[in-house]
Amino acid sequence: MRLLILGGTSEASALAKCLAARPDLAPILSLAGRTSAPVAPPIPFRIGGFGGVAGLSAYIEQEGIDLLVDATHPFAAQMSAHASAAAAACAIPLIVLTRAPWREEPNDRWIRVPDMQAAAKALGETPRRVFLTIGRLQVEAFTTAPQHFYLIRTIEPPGALALPDHRLLYDRGPYDAAREKALLQEERIDCLVTKNSGGAATYGKIAAARALGLPVVMVERPSSGTETAITVHAPQDVLACIDAHREKIAVHHQADLTERGV
Ligand SMILES: NC(=O)c1ccc[n+]([C@@H]2O[C@H](COP(=O)([O-])OP(=O)(O)OC[C@H]3O[C@@H](n4cnc5c(N)ncnc54)[C@H](OP(=O)(O)O)[C@@H]3O)[C@@H](O)[C@H]2O)c1
Repeated sequence: MRLLILGGTSEASALAKCLAARPDLAPILSLAGRTSAPVAPPIPFRIGGFGGVAGLSAYIEQEGIDLLVDATHPFAAQMSAHASAAAAACAIPLIVLTRAPWREEPNDRWIRVPDMQAAAKALGETPRRVFLTIGRLQVEAFTTAPQHFYLIRTIEPPGALALPDHRLLYDRGPYDAAREKALLQEERIDCLVTKNSGGAATYGKIAAARALGLPVVMVERPSSGTETAITVHAPQDVLACIDAHREKIAVHHQADLTERGV
């Protein structure tokens, strides 16, 4: 069975590890190519966009893909929408592997916003010291609120920024809550901005903000059109879905043979 896994997340890497131990499946992992030096996966892989829904559908047909797994980041909404459309066009099943979103807990002070523009607005007029942990691609949105100081943490440089008062911090998770709390205190941060990515690796900042009583501007997940697909949160559950799907095909095949008297 040929599987195409849309990756770029730790969940996709974990799934690739599980699939490397399954010689009965023939997976290929797809990466967008955003990271300059990605760690080589333990299964065959390809890098780069497909060229929209048409390109992805053509790839699925050419490669004889039987099943698509969308293991992209919850904020990679365009790729997920393309995955949903291409799976429907090619009539193959789609399984979504995604982290469960973080949930607000007692003593959290979340301000929920739909996008980055709304997040910048939610910071208000009074100058604040803001910790921005939203990745590098949407920092531009905060140029509409130049009165604040921004501590911006990214893995790779975000490029030229028109923010008069900011400091860049390059780092890669996982981050524990104690270290995050110390950083917030050292930098005298009074507000955190984050996407609701979910997962344990970057949850430390949420726990630290709670412990310090700081507000968190929480950018909610975009809708990606995959809401009706089979959705699981663990790599092992993807394998269970694949095995169930194969069993269903085998039963249908047997019923077909019986009906035709073969
Ligand atoms: N957005 C985030 O916050 C975030 C965080 C961590 C990791 N990532 C990972 O970084 C990658 C890009 O994210 P994004 O938010 O820029 O995506 P996006 O906006 O949803 O997708 C933009 C385009 O990038 C290409 N693309 C995205 N993921 C791909 C994949 N796995 N394989 C091949 N092409 C892919 C597709 O190009 P074509 O239309 O040409 O096919 C897609 O239309 C994804 O793999 C995602 O899992 C994203």
